Amino acid sequence: MKKIIIAAIAKNNVIGKSNGEMSWHIKEEFQHFKETTTGYPILMGRKTFQSLNKPLPNRENIIVSRNHNFKPDFLSTHIVKSIKEGIDLALTFQKEKVFIIGGGEIYRQALTIADEMILSHLNFDAEGDVLFPSFSLNDWKINSEEKRDLFTIVHYSKK
Ligand SMILES: NC(=O)c1ccc[n+]([C@@H]2O[C@H](COP(=O)([O-])OP(=O)(O)OC[C@H]3O[C@@H](n4cnc5c(N)ncnc54)[C@H](OP(=O)(O)O)[C@@H]3O)[C@@H](O)[C@H]2O)c1
Repeated sequence: MKKIIIAAIAKNNVIGKSNGEMSWHIKEEFQHFKETTTGYPILMGRKTFQSLNKPLPNRENIIVSRNHNFKPDFLSTHIVKSIKEGIDLALTFQKEKVFIIGGGEIYRQALTIADEMILSHLNFDAEGDVLFPSFSLNDWKINSEEKRDLFTIVHYSKK
């Protein structure tokens, strides 16, 4: 099972705001995220889940939290205590991919275990205080680049 980070990143590396507000609304980028992840398990941090308000449909939603009391009122969610536990659970769904969908804390820890990244690099700076972690092209190879109006989708694989 491939472990794939998917994110949208502004030119200044911002991915969002710590109060949970979105820094941008780009319909085409959201559509790309939906088409890419639908049908596969998605793994996210508790803060990202809370900024979504509800589970994303047609995907097993795996939420990482250290809080033993965190139990959202949705049947279609799975709460795990660590990223490793989340990956082990994703394996049981027997899909060829799991998508790691954020946020900043989870991306930072997942960089070492991810096999691939699908990053939408936005062509503008955005307001926000949550950043995508820095990574080096010494570790990642660019496989393809797809230009859209406001962003470029870049597929990376681990060297
Ligand atoms: N642009 C994008 O593509 C994108 C994608 C996703 C999210 N975002 C943005 O990112 C922001 C949220 O990111 P964030 O960094 O603040 O939070 P986050 O990564 O979504 O969640 C952090 C939480 O995850 C849990 N956690 C983290 N590491 C863990 C570990 N090793 N074991 C167990 N639990 C762990 C903890 O939950 P507990 O506190 O419950 O223990 C922690 O507080 C929002 O602004 C959101 O909009 C942007």
